[in-house]
Amino acid sequence: MEKNFPFWSDEVEAPSYPALGEDLEVDVAIVGGGIVGMHCAYRLKGSGLRTVVLEARRIGQQATGRSTAKVTTQHGRKYEKLIRSFGREGALAYADANEGAILEIARLAESMEGKAGLEQRDAYIYAVDDKEALQLEQEAEAARSLGLPADLVHDAGLPFPTTALLKYRGQFQFDPYRYILGLAGLVGHETPIYEQSRVTSWGEGSRCHLEVNGRTVTAQHVIFATQMPIINEGLHFAKAFPFAHPIVAAPLPPDRRLDGMFISVGSPSHSLRTAERDGKTYLIAVGGEYKGGDTKQQQDMLTDLRAFLRQHFGIEEFSHCWTNEDFRPMDGAAFVGPAERDSKLLVATGFDAWGISQGVVAADILADRLLGRTNEAAMLFDSTRIKPVSGAVEFTKGNLEAAANLFGERLLQRASVPVKSIAPGEAGIVSHGGDLLAVRRDEKGTLIAHSAVCTHMGCALGWNAIDRTWDCSCHGSRFDELGEVISGPAVAPLQQRSAPDEDDEGA
Ligand SMILES: Cc1cc2nc3c(=O)[nH]c(=O)nc-3n(C[C@H](O)[C@H](O)[C@H](O)COP(=O)(O)OP(=O)(O)OC[C@H]3O[C@@H](n4cnc5c(N)ncnc54)[C@H](O)[C@@H]3O)c2cc1C
Ligand code: FES
Repeated sequence: MEKNFPFWSDEVEAPSYPALGEDLEVDVAIVGGGIVGMHCAYRLKGSGLRTVVLEARRIGQQATGRSTAKVTTQHGRKYEKLIRSFGREGALAYADANEGAILEIARLAESMEGKAGLEQRDAYIYAVDDKEALQLEQEAEAARSLGLPADLVHDAGLPFPTTALLKYRGQFQFDPYRYILGLAGLVGHETPIYEQSRVTSWGEGSRCHLEVNGRTVTAQHVIFATQMPIINEGLHFAKAFPFAHPIVAAPLPPDRRLDGMFISVGSPSHSLRTAERDGKTYLIAVGGEYKGGDTKQQQDMLTDLRAFLRQHFGIEEFSHCWTNEDFRPMDGAAFVGPAERDSKLLVATGFDAWGISQGVVAADILADRLLGRTNEAAMLFDSTRIKPVSGAVEFTKGNLEAAANLFGERLLQRASVPVKSIAPGEAGIVSHGGDLLAVRRDEKGTLIAHSAVCTHMGCALGWNAIDRTWDCSCHGSRFDELGEVISGPAVAPLQQRSAPDEDDEGA
């Protein structure tokens, strides 16, 4: 039976860390135990700074442990865009920093149990028509001009026709969850890690204060490594917009091969890699992009992905299916540094689905800042930049869609369904007496209702039928079936509501 959680966290016995139950005073509080937070902890180890990691749920299980975990400088058609946005120098800083990061990840993974699944593979972007081939030629020129190991080739053994492929030699793939657990081991006892310890409020004065589980953590600096910062300072939730993808895993039929990591130029996008487990080769595949909370778009992308894998790889049955989300900045580079100029609250966000290597770059920039060292990449990723750039049109479109959700969907309540149409195990949005309800029917038929209004800034939520979560398309917050926050920027749970009547038409 298909499992609706990531391939990576299946059959892993992870050590658990305690929940914070006392007040703490530290130099650096790291909020979030994904690739950014755990790499910050690793970099600050031995520095003399008293550091703590505060993780809302379990380390490594959010965006990092839900990714495809390609460890590459191949970041789609990134370099032409970066040259346009930041010039050759900026694009070079990005390429060099990410090359350094993938080598650092490979070095660390080598020392971990089972090398955290590290394998060296070539990474390809593939084109399927002439227009895409031309786009790849331009990208190849950009990548080569920056000294990246990228060449155009005409065949990589894919089971469907391609018009061109841009091959990045000697890249890596790994198991992101085992890597984060390995990193926690390398960080060691010197840096306490707390799980089930969500930061719910914060303040910045001569020292910073965080509220966690009813306790107070006082720190000189706070790193918000929460994928999207939960803080309003810097308004980063309005500078990078969320998007999501479905992901599936399946054993690769014995007569099929995939030699490398692949991503399409066109859309709906398809991204492919393999992973070894229990003597079997699995295919891990990502489908097209959709707006979090758009149940129909999500189903369309999943249907397209399954059909693509059936047609080209003969896959009928899938072992795992889940989704992941990330945030796209307007100009192609993440935001890393103080939330606002000279703030002691630091952030890292906007990795555009390439946050494994960029996450390590971000951690280096943040750690160097706290240790008083210069970092060559810091200027490119300036977290306080406001710059009219070539990506502005696409960005505005993304934000307009978010605004449409806030003002359109909430007011028109067009996503609403009749209560009777919600079958056992399913869920939907019900408009009820001027209120929008997130209604779920459990397997026994009982209705459970919460407010369908996001606790961050009031957008309407939508049902994620794959992960069984309530997702917000405005700035990416996600809530579980019980209304608890999974990921922010929201920090407060959904409000509980009385269940609507069975004959409520939801209009
Ligand atoms: C479909 C898809 C595939 C991807 N594949 C790749 C890939 O192949 N290669 C690549 O480079 N990138 C990939 N990415 C991008 C990558 O997954 C992310 O950019 C990266 O993992 C972000 O890391 P992070 O540490 O910022 O966030 P996370 O890993 O999400 O870590 C943030 C942590 O903060 C915690 N947290 C949140 N709020 C609070 C709070 N209030 N208090 C305490 N803790 C909190 C969360 O629980 C979480 O553990 C992919 C993205 C998508 C959408
Ligand atoms: S995440 Fe901002 S309104 Fe939902």
